[in-house]
Amino acid sequence: MPASSRLLSAHELSSPYKSLNDSYVSNRRDSKCPVSTLVAIGCLVVLGVLLAIAVIERLKYEDRINEALNPHHTPPSCNQSDPVEHSRIVLVESFPLGVDYGKNANTGVNLYDAWKDLLSLASEQIEVASFYWCLTGEDINVNSSSDTLGREILEEFKALPSRNVSVRVVTSVPTLAPNSTDLKTLKEQGVQIRRVNFGRLTKGILHSKFWIVDGKHVYIGSANMDWRALTQVKELGVVIYNSSALAADLQKIFQSYWVSGRSNSSIPDPWPSDFDTQINEERPLTLNLSGVESKVYIAASPPVFCPESRTRDLDAILSAIRGAQDFIHVAVMEFYPASKFFYHHGYWPVIEDALKRSAIDRNVSVSLLVSCGQESDPAVWPFIRSLDALHSPADNINIAVRVFVIPSGNQSHIPYSRINHNKYMVTDKVAYVGTSNWSPEYFNTTAGVGLVLSQDASGKSFHQQLRGVFDRDWNSQYSHPLAHLHRIQDCAFSTSAP
Ligand SMILES: *[C@@H]1O[C@H](CO)[C@@H](O)[C@H](O)[C@H]1NC(C)=O
Ligand SMILES: *[C@@H]1O[C@H](CO)[C@@H](O)[C@H](O)[C@H]1NC(C)=O
Ligand SMILES: *[C@@H]1O[C@H](CO)[C@@H](O)[C@H](O)[C@H]1NC(C)=O
Ligand SMILES: *[C@@H]1O[C@H](CO)[C@@H](O)[C@H](O)[C@H]1NC(C)=O
Ligand SMILES: *[C@@H]1O[C@H](CO)[C@@H](O)[C@H](O)[C@H]1NC(C)=O
Ligand SMILES: *[C@@H]1O[C@H](CO)[C@@H](O)[C@H](O)[C@H]1NC(C)=O
Ligand SMILES: *[C@@H]1O[C@H](CO)[C@@H](O)[C@H](O)[C@H]1NC(C)=O
Ligand SMILES: *[C@@H]1O[C@H](CO)[C@@H](O)[C@H](O)[C@H]1NC(C)=O
Ligand SMILES: *[C@@H]1O[C@H](CO)[C@@H](O)[C@H](O)[C@H]1NC(C)=O
Ligand SMILES: *[C@@H]1O[C@H](CO)[C@@H](O)[C@H](O)[C@H]1NC(C)=O
Repeated sequence: MPASSRLLSAHELSSPYKSLNDSYVSNRRDSKCPVSTLVAIGCLVVLGVLLAIAVIERLKYEDRINEALNPHHTPPSCNQSDPVEHSRIVLVESFPLGVDYGKNANTGVNLYDAWKDLLSLASEQIEVASFYWCLTGEDINVNSSSDTLGREILEEFKALPSRNVSVRVVTSVPTLAPNSTDLKTLKEQGVQIRRVNFGRLTKGILHSKFWIVDGKHVYIGSANMDWRALTQVKELGVVIYNSSALAADLQKIFQSYWVSGRSNSSIPDPWPSDFDTQINEERPLTLNLSGVESKVYIAASPPVFCPESRTRDLDAILSAIRGAQDFIHVAVMEFYPASKFFYHHGYWPVIEDALKRSAIDRNVSVSLLVSCGQESDPAVWPFIRSLDALHSPADNINIAVRVFVIPSGNQSHIPYSRINHNKYMVTDKVAYVGTSNWSPEYFNTTAGVGLVLSQDASGKSFHQQLRGVFDRDWNSQYSHPLAHLHRIQDCAFSTSAP
């Protein structure tokens, strides 16, 4: 949500930055999959015993931290030559009312349709991680008929328990929707809800946004469970159908939130072995996605919620940037290479450096599409301007920045809307769809996830489609080079623009 940073600043954040860069340098993990099955079993038995002891110790003062993971699933196998599931991938988007790209535009499946489809497929269980819920206008004291789709989604969720679908929801404390009645209503219908106090646990928020349906379909994307995500905010996400291995992996992340939602929970160190993953950057899952051979893994933040085996979201982003040879296209609502909360040690050039090095040292073409709306923070402006100032094609430095602005039109009475909320990247090598903005708190204290996908680049693939979506937006009437911004309404940077 656009206002998440405001929420953070309103929330008390007191621990000072101790170190900047160093803790972010990519921390390669040893590969977790055994070379031989025998060695593996031996290792696992020994590790299992050690972990069991560690866990029992921990349980002495913290009951049942290690709640059972989803009882229906078996852990994904290391054996990548197992018979492939008939998995399918779908790019999902939503567009604010009035946004129009003209005929024949390349767009994903509508977010509302994708959610409805997942809801109708559900026959056993749904897990949802979302920053907050706010699916009706009343929740924020707004009267708008554009909340109709949100209401429908809420009704569908309410009906799930009576269809014998078990529903578990995790949301954040602190929250952005304190007055919403959605969770209360859902609870009355039998939905299990845990509010995870990330404010207390990490001084951050739970900002992840994903669904897991029947232990085999997953949705990950920028959209909160908010009616505005369907009609007033521009969102991008991905649905992968029929991959129980990927779903089981995401379920581990869900479960790490779920156990942390118990009162007085603390963060285990280390996490019990149930939370370990066999799918990471070094060892991605091989899937045949809609007929295209693909390698995929899910990265997460914050680091204290990741077992060693889980690739950190920031590391996934840095690897993708460093691995690009030709181009890096980034669309992210907010790109802010400094901390807003630790003024004395605030500069955080980690991602910015990686982008500049790719452009300057390796002649990779970098395009950064950031968002601006009426409530955007103008503090972002000097930083994006400094990046754009490097753009000098004659010297083989290609770093272009553009700002995506969605006109408010007659919708200006709706707070925190009319914004491009996308958080993705596409390079010549990978597609990345995340839930975090690109500023430091999101990678250190806030919970988020990112799906990293590499596919055979030729032919019709998700990767190519995401590239097409970026090109569509970059070249659209809503995207403005910085030099033109002073003429653009509904953007908080415009008054700073020369
Ligand atoms: C990350 O957060 C931890 C507290 O969770 C803090 O001690 C550390 O200084 C932070 N690091 C950075 C680089 O912000
Ligand atoms: C991996 O899967 C293949 C094909 O299903 C099978 O032939 C092979 O024995 C498996 N290897 C292990 C170590 O399970
Ligand atoms: C909301 O607006 C509609 C028309 O725009 C009006 O009919 C309705 O009474 C309003 N509802 C409330 C609760 O103000
Ligand atoms: C839900 O489960 C109960 C108990 O198993 C059963 O009686 C009922 O028919 C089920 N309802 C549906 C809609 O499947
Ligand atoms: C929640 O409701 C209270 C009382 O009506 C109001 O003062 C407050 O501004 C509302 N908060 C939000 C975030 O809408
Ligand atoms: C999942 O795969 C099965 C066959 O393996 C297929 O019948 C089903 O339609 C697929 N589900 C989706 C949502 O694609
Ligand atoms: C949580 O901690 C408080 C204070 O330490 C204690 O009073 C309370 O009983 C604890 N609650 C639970 C559910 O353990
Ligand atoms: C992927 O699956 C499709 C059918 O869904 C099949 O035609 C194709 O050969 C498979 N590709 C690979 C690399 O397994
Ligand atoms: C740098 O890349 C551009 C294409 O983006 C290419 O035209 C140019 O020749 C490259 N320069 C060098 C020195 O490789
Ligand atoms: C808002 O403007 C659109 C056209 O841009 C129009 O179709 C719609 O009816 C207007 N809505 C209201 C409530 O004025």
